[in-house]
Amino acid sequence: MYTPEAEKSVRLFLKYGLVSDPWQAASRGQPTLDPSLEATLSSAVAEISKEPIDRLVLGSWPITQAQVETGIREVLLSSASFDAYLATGRASLTAASLNEAVRRVRLLVRDGGLGRLMVGYGYTALVENLMAVRHYRTMREEDFVSGRLHRPWVTRTLEYELAAGMALGHYELIPGPEGRLVKLTRRGAQLWRDAQELWRVTGYADTRHRLSMMAEFANLADLDELTNLILPDFMDLRRTFVEYCRIPSGTRLLEVGSGSGMLTFDSGLYETLMPSSLTCLDPSPVLTGLAVKKAERARAQDVRFVRGVAESLPFPAESFDHALAFAVMQYTDRGQALPELYRVLRPGGSLAISVPLDLPALHQAAMQRWFKPLQRPSYGSYVFVSPTDIAEHAAAAGFRVLDVSDMTTSLDYSRPELTVRIMMQFQIYQDTLSSLPYQARLDLRDDLAGRGRYLLSRGAKVRFQAPMQFIRLQKP
Ligand SMILES: C[S@@+](CC[C@H](N)C(=O)[O-])C[C@H]1O[C@@H](n2cnc3c(N)ncnc32)[C@H](O)[C@@H]1O
Repeated sequence: MYTPEAEKSVRLFLKYGLVSDPWQAASRGQPTLDPSLEATLSSAVAEISKEPIDRLVLGSWPITQAQVETGIREVLLSSASFDAYLATGRASLTAASLNEAVRRVRLLVRDGGLGRLMVGYGYTALVENLMAVRHYRTMREEDFVSGRLHRPWVTRTLEYELAAGMALGHYELIPGPEGRLVKLTRRGAQLWRDAQELWRVTGYADTRHRLSMMAEFANLADLDELTNLILPDFMDLRRTFVEYCRIPSGTRLLEVGSGSGMLTFDSGLYETLMPSSLTCLDPSPVLTGLAVKKAERARAQDVRFVRGVAESLPFPAESFDHALAFAVMQYTDRGQALPELYRVLRPGGSLAISVPLDLPALHQAAMQRWFKPLQRPSYGSYVFVSPTDIAEHAAAAGFRVLDVSDMTTSLDYSRPELTVRIMMQFQIYQDTLSSLPYQARLDLRDDLAGRGRYLLSRGAKVRFQAPMQFIRLQKP
């Protein structure tokens, strides 16, 4: 069993939106820190580390003042760089994101004490270490200590973490051909299983998935090009959707998950529906930036871009006549998003949705062989919805279902590098990927591209039809 202390800390990290996981925070490596921000960071660390703390907060292995300072520093850097990453698509810190992280860390310390912050930080580091040793079965002592394979962003040595883990019975050292090897003990293996259970129970696993999904969208500056190559008929399907939604011109329109504006400006939504006002909502500033340029080129009037998510819409009740969401609802929590959409529509207003129902690639022998190293797709959870999902959540939110139509679209996986990027970035295999150490993810990406090239050279079938659903709803 995980300890109640670990659980309280994970919950507090969630409550204050903090992360202590630079692999997530700056998934491309070490966050770049502007020298002018170093002063802010150091003074925040010096001040927060003066708070009282029980030196035995991590168990029988006393924690030093230097470790407290390192922990605070890493939580601040990770949280601030993750925030900057979501806002700008880059993990380089800004003064605003650093100040925000300092504010949230102070709130957590006020609420739960400095000890809680350290338990959350220590626990994350421990879980990363356990995950890595488990993955490689044995790890050379020098690799563990340098963090080369699992925490390459850490600038200090992990000697202390190894010593503490040995003293607490998580690891043992065994002789190997070129020096000592670190291996998990039964107790260490149990601790890793407990950590996974704790992530599940607290919802941290889900948050971790969702945060990294947003981060991936923030990073997809070439999304237009990628989707056009992988989904060659998607633009036509968007045009069909614009006709399907039957929204009259001159209304107050909300588009949820407007992304780079491919529906809005490239597929004629704006020109065809001529709304009296159009609000484009999306969590990704990078994609929104692309949409803003398209709006300028189209000289679009009365369009506003709002950063936000469907689960909590930043608009008053009944502020729109109609709303639509193309290829978005599959990424949302429908139990929250549909009641929110209901709330912001006026009575009589309609909502049109398009979602993918399945990824046929996952059922094809060649594709299964290709992606075999990933094994477990999170099938049905993040990337597709079941055929009844939207209608059921919509009815529960109070909507009347006006129409449900089955559609299809083509998928083209003939470019291995792109396909692997899409498969890994769109979180289809997130359950597997999130239990891999950093270097193993990179190796897997390269291995998968090689497997794809091989299968294609053998003439494997890599073009499919994928089922989609269009659905029209009305607020009575
Ligand atoms: C596949 S893209 C579709 C974009 C656009 N509708 C189109 O037709 O190209 C999915 C979009 O959903 C956005 N998204 C992801 N999670 C979301 C959420 N919880 N609420 C609203 N939008 C979200 C992403 O940022 C991304 O722009």
